[in-house]
Amino acid sequence: MSTTIGQTAYADRFQARSARFREDLSVALNMLYGEPVGGRVEADILSLAREAFDSRSEELKALDLAREDELADWFQRPEMIGYMCYPDRMAGNFEGLRERIPYLRSLGITYLHLLSVLKARPGDSDGGFAIADYLATNDNLGTIDDLEALTADFRKAGISLCLDFVFNHTAKEHEWARRAKAGEKAYQDYYFMYPDRDLPDQYETMLDQVFPATAPGNFTYEEACDKWVWTTFYPYQWDLNYHNPAVLVAMLDNLFKLANRGVEVFRLDAAIYAWKESGTHCRNLPQTHALLQVFRAAMSIVAPGVALKAEAVAGARHIAKYFGFQESEGKECQLAYHTAAMAALWDCLATEDVGPTVKLLSSLPKKPPQTSWIYYARCHDDIGWATLQDSKGADWSLPDDRLNHLWRFYAGETEDSFARGEKFQAVAGEAFAGSNGTLASLAGLEAAVENEDEAAIEIAVRRSLLMHAVPLVLDGIPLVYMGDESGLLNDYDYAAEANHHDGRWLHRPVMPAEHPGKSDPGHRILVALRSMIGRRKAMPIFHTSVSLDFIDTGNAAIMAVVRRRNDQLLLCLANFSGQPQSVAPDLISEMLGDSVRDENPLNTAQGHAPHQLQPYQCRWLVASREEAS
Ligand code: GLC
Repeated sequence: MSTTIGQTAYADRFQARSARFREDLSVALNMLYGEPVGGRVEADILSLAREAFDSRSEELKALDLAREDELADWFQRPEMIGYMCYPDRMAGNFEGLRERIPYLRSLGITYLHLLSVLKARPGDSDGGFAIADYLATNDNLGTIDDLEALTADFRKAGISLCLDFVFNHTAKEHEWARRAKAGEKAYQDYYFMYPDRDLPDQYETMLDQVFPATAPGNFTYEEACDKWVWTTFYPYQWDLNYHNPAVLVAMLDNLFKLANRGVEVFRLDAAIYAWKESGTHCRNLPQTHALLQVFRAAMSIVAPGVALKAEAVAGARHIAKYFGFQESEGKECQLAYHTAAMAALWDCLATEDVGPTVKLLSSLPKKPPQTSWIYYARCHDDIGWATLQDSKGADWSLPDDRLNHLWRFYAGETEDSFARGEKFQAVAGEAFAGSNGTLASLAGLEAAVENEDEAAIEIAVRRSLLMHAVPLVLDGIPLVYMGDESGLLNDYDYAAEANHHDGRWLHRPVMPAEHPGKSDPGHRILVALRSMIGRRKAMPIFHTSVSLDFIDTGNAAIMAVVRRRNDQLLLCLANFSGQPQSVAPDLISEMLGDSVRDENPLNTAQGHAPHQLQPYQCRWLVASREEAS
């Protein structure tokens, strides 16, 4: 396609998209700001969108077009496998990361989420989540131009880069905050600032605390301007005030500029807190959803090849709403972390009882067809147990005593525990919060290695592989967290590093440059995971639009997931127990007939009947008369 023809096609498409998404934009803006303000903001956003489109590279415009058309389901395909890492802890800097491309490709990775890339405040920065400049990168990694070049190289290698878009707050060192501190009223309106404790005290009666142990309260006194500032997270993270439309427009400007650097997925950080309204809990508010609808419509106009991903750490019933719901279904994020499924898998592993998890996951609203969950066993944050509870007391909600048990179990405090980990945000007298630890340490590898117990090591390897295998079969992108692919253990020296007092650094170790040696259990995990990923990528039944159901096997330790694509059926059986388990043979023959094949490559060599499962085994069963395609 010649450049001129290309430009015309791109411009025509841009016009078409503007016409198509304008309605979504105005509905959402009207909800947020009413008229006439909503209309004015819409005009501002449309002109910003035009500017952003005009400065978008031809390569990225071509990608947009392809994704609008033939690759519309690019993030739903079974080939899509995610990985997340801190670039500095994995590879030193951007250059080091580029050298890791072959490694990531060998693992089958097609989507890479880089943490802590944009310029954070100096010193403690909540692991990079206190941004001082959205359009610059951390000095130790390289420049923003280097990042742009990296996105292009990753794209060539078939890997889409994802960055966090920390849009709920900025660092107090961000230029807007500095000007607010200096007394500029226009910038004080970018944040929530109060002259005294009256309103903060009223709000506090309704608000939760995210970091009750390390950053109690939701407001911080700022001496320089003699004001109380809303700070949901750490005192140096100032919440942005989206009641002020200038904030929305300025943040969209940052978002578009980053998209034009080649970022293909944005993780919308801490999404549930974005809108505040007095008299409410200020979480998951309808206006927060409207805000995301604005982001989505605006991004669809500028760069439809870019996907938005919600990070909603909330009670399970809220999270599917971040795809959009009711009349806005499919109009928010294309991707969302299944924060509840993550915690639920750890519940299954500790209790050997999948019942509550299955009840929970089956009770939630289904995701819209053109979206994908992100399934993962671990990430850079803690396992948040509150995601498994419902403030409305739904019957799937896990009871306090079970969650308290899990909290203690994963800190290695219960008699039956195999785990090594730590409690997160433990406050005297309070119940469960979160748990920290790497996948392998939580799954028992650390204790087993320490005890030089070969049998326990084998079991811990199996547990780790089960926690990798289940996300591979669900209706989302499986995401591997840095080091978990090779059984990296907890880093107990974390607090010795400057600014690493927060307990989540326990599972953010520096990754060794060398891969684990052949005798290392980590090597076994890596090789096995690689082969499961390879197989999943070749099975169209794992497309995330394919339906998913849980069925009751009559055995509490076995999770059974059914995927149905046309007349094909895949039955995944996952044994969460340390003992051999089985389901009724009829259950399998009724679904799959008498001749059954196990598609999980880890199982090809073993001779058990399909209804029998070894400890922590995960079977991917299909009728053997048909190809698993
Ligand atoms: C998200 C991040 C977490 C951070 C918080 C505040 O939840 O994942 O690491 O502390 O947002 O930005």
